[in-house]
Amino acid sequence: MVWQADPVDASDLESDLAKTLITPEEISDRLAELSRDIERDYEGKDLLLVGVLKGAVMVMADLARSLDRHIEMDWMAISSYGSGTTSSGVVRILKDLDTDITGRHVLVVEDIVDTGLTLSWLISNLSSRGPASVEIFTLLRKPDAQRMQVKVNYVGFEIPDEFVVGYGLDYDQRYRNLRQIATLASHVYS
Ligand code: PRP
Repeated sequence: MVWQADPVDASDLESDLAKTLITPEEISDRLAELSRDIERDYEGKDLLLVGVLKGAVMVMADLARSLDRHIEMDWMAISSYGSGTTSSGVVRILKDLDTDITGRHVLVVEDIVDTGLTLSWLISNLSSRGPASVEIFTLLRKPDAQRMQVKVNYVGFEIPDEFVVGYGLDYDQRYRNLRQIATLASHVYS
């Protein structure tokens, strides 16, 4: 039997959204600005972008194409042992890097830092592998994460403590393919 998706058009998606927080143009402009910073900061150094699946797929693809220099890309998939929606900070690797990062300059690319627990674990894990450096890029950062000890070098946007979807971020695995960052209408949850 061939699986067929329910037909979804753009207006179905739009009616599920409460408010657009960040437009595609704002994302694109901000990525261009941060790319110039990254090019300057890593001048003369190799650069390995490490995307954290699945949320970082969109920002990784656009950031990489915005960088006017050689880069390499690799991916990790990790799963938090949380209870329900609460992240515990205890993480399991579902897919590890293919790259040996010994002596490499690593820039972790995240879609969002919320509690910061995932990132704390990731930095500690990657740092133990002997890289030349490990720095962090995140498209979005929530208020709790601003109080974290972990230093985030590149932040696209500070956002309020609201549940957001789009541009890689999901609700129940959907909405990742929206071009903007938005909040969901309440009827989606009910
Ligand atoms: C999200 C996001 C970060 C993490 C941030 O991933 O991509 O990795 O949560 O949360 P924290 O700062 O509270 O630890 P998620 O587990 O939703 O998986 P996904 O990327 O596959 O959607």
